Amino acid sequence: MAKTYGLMVGSGWEGLAGDDTGTEVTTAFGAPSARVHRLRFGTHNVLTLARHGAGHSFPPHAINYRANVMALKKLGAEAIIGLNTVGIITTVIEPGGLAIPDQLIDYTWGREQTLFDGRRGIVEHVDFTEPFTANLRAALVAAARSAGVACHDGGVYAVTQGPRLETAAEIVRLERDGADFVGMTAMPEAAIAREADVDYACIAMIVNPAAGHGDVPIHDAVDRHTESARNATLSTLDAFFAAL
Ligand code: HPA
Repeated sequence: MAKTYGLMVGSGWEGLAGDDTGTEVTTAFGAPSARVHRLRFGTHNVLTLARHGAGHSFPPHAINYRANVMALKKLGAEAIIGLNTVGIITTVIEPGGLAIPDQLIDYTWGREQTLFDGRRGIVEHVDFTEPFTANLRAALVAAARSAGVACHDGGVYAVTQGPRLETAAEIVRLERDGADFVGMTAMPEAAIAREADVDYACIAMIVNPAAGHGDVPIHDAVDRHTESARNATLSTLDAFFAAL
């Protein structure tokens, strides 16, 4: 039997929730950002949670990542696919396309970043050498290929604190550090999923050139490229769930 999947959807996907009224979930870490909806992809019911809340009320640094991951797990998710919008730093893929990153660098601070915070009697240091689950990544890449969408296999996702976008100099530094993409939400989500023993991979939706890399203001680029990245994501998810 196929695994139960969770989708952690990001900016612009709140309307994806469908018509079911959703399930309110509580966790030991508090309430998740929103109700969990069941979304149908072909024959699969996919647990779907809007990371930023139903009305986009939580900025990246104020999201309760622990409650979000644990809410999906509590409803049965064994694997989570994160949808994360990012800016592109290198030239591995054009805006409007996708990437399935294989590495990340965490520049966030002050977020509740672990289930093992010393207050619950468990202290563990999970192996995070490979932050994304390899077979889930490979299946997403294969799905993107079979859907015929522009998708880069791999790359380094730099996770910044936000909510402001980066300075041009910060992007130069991230590039020097080896980052290909920059976004604000893959951490601590990926690490918490690892701690919760839930598979995790991310579809990075490339919606703009990173600060200092574009020829139009960032928000204009986002407006221009979001629809294409969104359509590519939906085609990839359709192919992914059809192949299960
Ligand atoms: N920087 C950080 N987060 C983002 C960006 C960006 O350029 N684009 C979309 N999310």
